[in-house]
Amino acid sequence: MKKVILAITFLLFTGCCFATKTKPEIVGSNTCVMCHDTVETEINKTPHNPQNGVQCEDCHGPGSKHADDPSPDNIFNFKNKSTRSIFKKCFKCHGDMHKNWSSHFLEGKSCLNCHDTWHSEKTVNEFPIPKPNLLKDGSAALCFKCHITQKIEFARPFHHQFSGTGNSCLRCHNPHKSRKEIRPRQMSQKCGSCHPDTSGPFVYVHLGTQHNGCLECHKPHGSTNPNLLIRNNTRFLCLSCHADTPMFHNQADPKYKNCTSCHSAIHGSNVSPKFFE
Ligand code: HEC
Ligand code: HEC
Ligand code: HEC
Ligand code: HEC
Ligand code: HEC
Ligand code: HEC
Ligand code: HEC
Ligand code: HEC
Ligand code: HEC
Ligand code: HEC
Repeated sequence: MKKVILAITFLLFTGCCFATKTKPEIVGSNTCVMCHDTVETEINKTPHNPQNGVQCEDCHGPGSKHADDPSPDNIFNFKNKSTRSIFKKCFKCHGDMHKNWSSHFLEGKSCLNCHDTWHSEKTVNEFPIPKPNLLKDGSAALCFKCHITQKIEFARPFHHQFSGTGNSCLRCHNPHKSRKEIRPRQMSQKCGSCHPDTSGPFVYVHLGTQHNGCLECHKPHGSTNPNLLIRNNTRFLCLSCHADTPMFHNQADPKYKNCTSCHSAIHGSNVSPKFFE
């Protein structure tokens, strides 16, 4: 029994010593840049600089061990590190991102899939000036890298052609937000912010717009049909819900085939319950 206790005490004792000896400590950015002076120049072009209170070791962890023995194994270098451990580094200061736990995080897509901290040799050689928001790519190509389906949809003859520069996906999406954001109701509100004349509120609401919002009839990313409609023929779109139109709607008569020529206020109306104007 005595022997066992002795052995445990010994183990605990040496364990503690071992831990204190190897646990690296903060040495401060000034020490890091003594050997990494080019990194200092580059990082000062980004918001992650000492003037903003950001130190090398906020991201790379305590570096005394590495400063004594500058091996890559002695520092958190982000290479082959788990997504979770990378999140932990970034969330230290960007903790508000935590609230909006989007699929991008859940599916293990780390911040570094879209952002770059702009001081690795590779990036700096390729793109000397950091991009806004430290994004790897300022265009939709950033998103198409993984979202092939949407790339195909946007290639269809009818799609939003937002003018100007930048990433058009961001007009409707925030990549930090959760999956809730793409629920039809939320998305329809977003559509309405640019298309207020279609989203009401109306005195006479077209109930066809109420369940799935705009997505009931439109494809947001692109369509082979004019007006981004889900059907190639407006008539068939209407008849898919209105099989029982009044008798005089003779579908053999061309006049009654173009539904929106009479029911033109199809998104809703303040004057006509049958959406004539
Ligand atoms: C005594 C000089 C020296 C100091 C001080 C120093 N480093 Fe290094 N560091 C190096 C050298 C040399 C390498 C290249 C090692 C290699 O590639 O084998 C390196 C590599 C690195 C790497 C890249 C590892 C990789 O996988 O390529 C990181 C990250 C790094 N250092 C961060 C830091 C940070 C943060 C500090 C301050 C805490 C720091 N260094 C302090 C000399 C130093
Ligand atoms: C905001 C977090 C952050 C800060 C602050 C930061 N780094 Fe880094 N560092 C990274 C990340 C992430 C990488 C991995 C490469 C990349 O994607 O940019 C990296 C990579 C490196 C590398 C390897 C470069 C290469 O060519 O692969 C070195 C060396 C380095 N950092 C040193 C430093 C030094 C020195 C400082 C302080 C002056 C510093 N870092 C501050 C996040 C940071
Ligand atoms: C799927 C791509 C993607 C991922 C993953 C991603 N971001 Fe972003 N981030 C963006 C885009 C795009 C913008 C620019 C947003 C804009 O212009 O509206 C941005 C902007 C930012 C901004 C500046 C604007 C703001 O909202 O405060 C910060 C900070 C930021 N991201 C931090 C992070 C951190 C930290 C992570 C990881 C937890 C992360 N991002 C993961 C794409 C991404
Ligand atoms: C020690 C705190 C700290 C850490 C850790 C940190 N950041 Fe930041 N980050 C900042 C500050 C401060 C800013 C500037 C804030 C501002 O402009 O509002 C910033 C800004 C950003 C921006 C916006 C850049 C722009 O052009 O506006 C992005 C993107 C970003 N950080 C990503 C990251 C990523 C990815 C990580 C993890 C690798 C990370 N940050 C880790 C403090 C930090
Ligand atoms: C590294 C790969 C990758 C990149 C880059 C990427 N995404 Fe994603 N994204 C995913 C994965 C994986 C999912 C979850 C599965 C799915 O819905 O396809 C996802 C889901 C989504 C969703 C569905 C909503 C959600 O949270 O589930 C939207 C919207 C989205 N991404 C938009 C974007 C935008 C906008 C960009 C560019 C700023 C982008 N993504 C860049 C991988 C990526
Ligand atoms: C006009 C607004 C709009 C634009 C611009 C837009 N989206 Fe969407 N996106 C939506 C709507 C609405 C949904 C939800 C309906 C759906 O699933 O089709 C959605 C859904 C998604 C989803 C989830 C699909 C799924 O089935 O889970 C992804 C991924 C996505 N968008 C990526 C992108 C990318 C990448 C871009 C830029 C090329 C982009 N979106 C541009 C409106 C938009
Ligand atoms: C019940 C089906 C339906 C719903 C739901 C619907 N639309 Fe439409 N939308 C149409 C039809 C049909 C047209 C083509 C009208 C025509 O033939 O002139 C159209 C045309 C449009 C147009 C182009 C013509 C114009 O009026 O400016 C926009 C923009 C539009 N819709 C936006 C929206 C938005 C935003 C929503 C959601 C708030 C929405 N739509 C919901 C059926 C619908
Ligand atoms: C950032 C503003 C903006 C947002 C958000 C937006 N749109 Fe648009 N939309 C436009 C503009 C500008 C046009 C006309 C030019 C074009 O086709 O890009 C348009 C055109 C359209 C058209 C007519 C396309 C055609 O073939 O003539 C439809 C339908 C439409 N939008 C539906 C939607 C739906 C549904 C949503 C939500 C998923 C939406 N929009 C979100 C700005 C926006
Ligand atoms: C997703 C299903 C759906 C689609 C698609 C749809 N509607 Fe409707 N519509 C409804 C519903 C539900 C009502 C309410 C039915 C009721 O009150 O009897 C309605 C009401 C109407 C009314 C008023 C009926 C009344 O009794 O006052 C007219 C007119 C109408 N729709 C025309 C159209 C036309 C034209 C189209 C094609 C552009 C169309 N609808 C597409 C579901 C739809
Ligand atoms: C030439 C004009 C015209 C065209 C084209 C037309 N309608 Fe009508 N629609 C009417 C009139 C008139 C009424 C009756 C209004 C009333 O009762 O006050 C009506 C009523 C309706 C109603 C409401 C029925 C009810 O119970 O009150 C629906 C639903 C409807 N139309 C759907 C359609 C659809 C679907 C199409 C295309 C296939 C279409 N309409 C094409 C003129 C038209």
